[in-house]
Amino acid sequence: MVKKKTILDLEEMKKKGEKATWITAYDFPMASFAEQAGLDMILVGDSLGMVVLGYKGTVPVTMDDCISHCQAVRRGAPNTFVVGDMPFGSYQVSDEDAVVNACRFLKEADMDAIKLEGGRRVISKIKAISDAGIVVFGHIGLTPQSSGQQGGFKAQGRDVGSARELIVDAIQIQEAGARALLLEAVPPELTEFIAKKLSIPVYSIGAGLPCDGQLMICGDMLGMFQAFTPKFVKKYASVAEVITNAFKEYVDDVKNERFPEDKHVYHAKDSMEDFEKMFKEFE
Ligand code: KIV
Repeated sequence: MVKKKTILDLEEMKKKGEKATWITAYDFPMASFAEQAGLDMILVGDSLGMVVLGYKGTVPVTMDDCISHCQAVRRGAPNTFVVGDMPFGSYQVSDEDAVVNACRFLKEADMDAIKLEGGRRVISKIKAISDAGIVVFGHIGLTPQSSGQQGGFKAQGRDVGSARELIVDAIQIQEAGARALLLEAVPPELTEFIAKKLSIPVYSIGAGLPCDGQLMICGDMLGMFQAFTPKFVKKYASVAEVITNAFKEYVDDVKNERFPEDKHVYHAKDSMEDFEKMFKEFE
C-alpha cells in the first residue's frame, strides 16, 4: 500500500523538481480508481456541480453537496491526499463563516486541505483558515465561481497589466499562509514566473508545463463531460461513448430477448413437479 502524502511531501516534491499529479473525483468509484492509479492528490472540486449534478456552473453547489461528495471520495481513496473545494457562498461573507465551513471539511469528511478561489479579496479568509490549523490551497486565474465578473470561462493574465495583478495576488496568498497555489488558464510564461517566485507548490490546470504539477478534471480527461471541452484538456478516454454504447447494446438485448441468458438466472432447487403442484394451490 502506498503511503498517504502530506503537505510536507508535496513541498519536498517541489524542491526536488518532481511533478505532482492531481485529478478531480466526486464519488467512491472514481476516487478508488485514482488511488489505484497512484495519483498524488484528488480534488473534490465544486466542478461537481457541472460534471455530476448537471448545473450550468459551480455557483449553485452547497456545502452539504461538497461534504457528501468529499465523504464518498475519502471512502474510495483512504490513502490519498484529498483537497475539498469550498463552494460559492461558503467563505465570501466573513472570516468566521470561512473558518466554520473549512472546519466542516476536516471534521465531517476527513479532508487533508481545502481550496478556495480568489486573490487579494480573500486574503483575510486564507489567513483565518490557515490560522485555524488547516492547509489552504489558493486558486487564481480563471476562477469559475466568479466567471460572471470575468465575462465567462476565459483565460486570464494574457496582458502585462493583468499578469502583474495575478503575481501580486500569488505573493499575498503565500504570505497569508496558503501552502499551495493553483493557477487556472493563464499563459505558461506567467506560470513559470510565479512557480519560481513562490516557495509553495504551484500547480496548473490549463496553465502549461513549467510548474510543480498538473490538475485535470476527471469528466474532461475521461470524455464523460459533454457540454464543452476547454482547450487545455487532453482526452485520455471516451467513457461517455463506451457507456452509451453499452446501454444501447443492453436495450437491444432486452427488446430481442437475448438477455438474460441461462447463465444469468437462479434455477429452482426443487423439482419442476413440486413447483407445479405448488402453483396449482393458487389456481
Ligand atoms: O472545482 C474544480 O474542479 C476546480 C477546478 C476547475 C480547478 O476548482
